[in-house]
Amino acid sequence: MKPSILEHIVCPTCRSDFKLLTKSKLKNEIKEGTLICVKCKDKFKITKGIPRFVVDLTKDFVRTEMAFSAKWKNHHRNHHAKDWVNWQKNWFLERFDWKSIGQFNTFLKSVDFAYKKYGTSSNIHFIQADIRQLPFRKTFFDYIFSDQVLHHTKNTSTSFKYLTKFLAKSGFISIYVYNKKAPIREYVDDYIRKRTVKMSVRECTEFSKDMAYLGRTLSKLRKKITIPRDIPLLGVKAGTYDIQRFVYWNFLKCFWDESDNFQRSVGVNFDWYYPKFAYRHTVSEVKKWFRDAKLKITTLKEIESGISVTGRKKS
Ligand SMILES: C[S@@+](CC[C@H](N)C(=O)[O-])C[C@H]1O[C@@H](n2cnc3c(N)ncnc32)[C@H](O)[C@@H]1O
Ligand SMILES: [Zn+2]
Repeated sequence: MKPSILEHIVCPTCRSDFKLLTKSKLKNEIKEGTLICVKCKDKFKITKGIPRFVVDLTKDFVRTEMAFSAKWKNHHRNHHAKDWVNWQKNWFLERFDWKSIGQFNTFLKSVDFAYKKYGTSSNIHFIQADIRQLPFRKTFFDYIFSDQVLHHTKNTSTSFKYLTKFLAKSGFISIYVYNKKAPIREYVDDYIRKRTVKMSVRECTEFSKDMAYLGRTLSKLRKKITIPRDIPLLGVKAGTYDIQRFVYWNFLKCFWDESDNFQRSVGVNFDWYYPKFAYRHTVSEVKKWFRDAKLKITTLKEIESGISVTGRKKS
């Protein structure tokens, strides 16, 4: 943590300033210490260089965070693989119409890994906080970017509304949330997730492997299926589809990575089945959130998996 962050953060409980107690320091980085609110005296620890604002360990956020951390610990090498990094770069360029990805070579899923990689950059600060209880003043940000996070909170719409309060006038916000799938796939997702969210990491990893094997078997068929006419009740459109893709989008999430990466496939299935909350939304819902927050949509893109939207606050 750089001491200069103190100009920007406030106590998430009462929005007053912090006093900093430094325990250990390396060059300009506070590695260990405590932030104490000058008014309500709430304390937040700085550990491994990062101020930690998630203090209530019973919060749902913690289990979700654990889910991604568990996966990250096991699979972080995969996330540095060249094809994955390129895929991530294209994600930002295509989904949000970014013209370049600037100095970020990749975005990392865990704050500790991100800190290790970019912590020494003088113009980047890292914090760990609940997106529903942020340590900033209202209208602080010119740009807010939340990729695949809001749908993992307990209420996507209220989390979005809360986030927009931190946006300055004329500021932009970009989000990506999961898209609602075909009705049978939604039904099956609800049925499976009701059980998998209660599993241990190990049990859910085993189930995620089962789904990867199933995805692989279907994928290796290399067979296509032709649906002669639309089946509106099932949300199925007439057309010719790869069997694995057809099952995947319409009936059951059984991801298989086309480059034959088993661990990555298990990780993608695990991401879907383990987090306590993983809501899916429609374009009209998302449009309503932006309308209600008085944000003008500047780009909106929909793919089968999700919806990416950027909006601007009135000046
Ligand atoms: C699918 S990952 C997306 C991470 C990153 N944005 C990316 O695209 O690589 C979902 C992330 O949301 C975080 N998350 C879930 N609920 C949260 C909350 N209430 N506050 C902050 N982060 C949360 C999880 O810890 C996890 O890292
Ligand atoms: Zn306070």
